[in-house]
Amino acid sequence: MGNPDSHGTQHGSCGTGCGNSAPQKTSCGAEKEECHDESKRDFIFISAASMAVVGAGVTAWPFVATLGPAKDTLALSTTEVDLSHIQEGQAVTVMWRGKPVFIRRRTASDIELARKVDEDASTFNALRDKQKDDERVKQSTFGGKAMPQWLVMVGVCTHLGCVPMGQKPTDMHGDFAGWFCPCHGSHYDSAGRIRKGPAPHNLAVPSYTFLSENRIKIG
Ligand code: FES
Repeated sequence: MGNPDSHGTQHGSCGTGCGNSAPQKTSCGAEKEECHDESKRDFIFISAASMAVVGAGVTAWPFVATLGPAKDTLALSTTEVDLSHIQEGQAVTVMWRGKPVFIRRRTASDIELARKVDEDASTFNALRDKQKDDERVKQSTFGGKAMPQWLVMVGVCTHLGCVPMGQKPTDMHGDFAGWFCPCHGSHYDSAGRIRKGPAPHNLAVPSYTFLSENRIKIG
């Protein structure tokens, strides 16, 4: 279990960089990554434009290249994970870009529970952050085969950035058989959607690709 102090690097480093003052956005790791990236892109773009204005186009590109991410940073921008040892009902946590990523191999009943919500209009319309289960797992495919058992999410509560419980069988899973953030009582369901408590959004789904049926690349 985490707490706001346990991952301080995910707090406060974005506020001045991206000019976004919304508290939820500045405290959510995934959003801040985008802020950083956008800031970097803006900087590169501005630098390239400035060089063009002074007529130094020939030397501009090598200079701009030095402003790009270092090779070691690029290496950390993706994470590959072997999933072959994860049994049905089990979950693992891996680190990606300094954030925990939850990978759960869901059971048939996990999936059924999530999809029942989608099929019931009143329950679905009551969702704070409306997203169907199949949208949450649409990247879980390989060779045209859908693998909705694999749910992949950034394990950072969208309220104030704690790491929710629910990865271990002995953890609290909240009222909806998913994850529970004890910091202020947010309950996420078996699709990682916020169902109760103060968190404004579902747990974020990162960009990922299946390299085979048992290997995933995050980022
Ligand atoms: Fe998760 Fe507040 S940080 S409920």
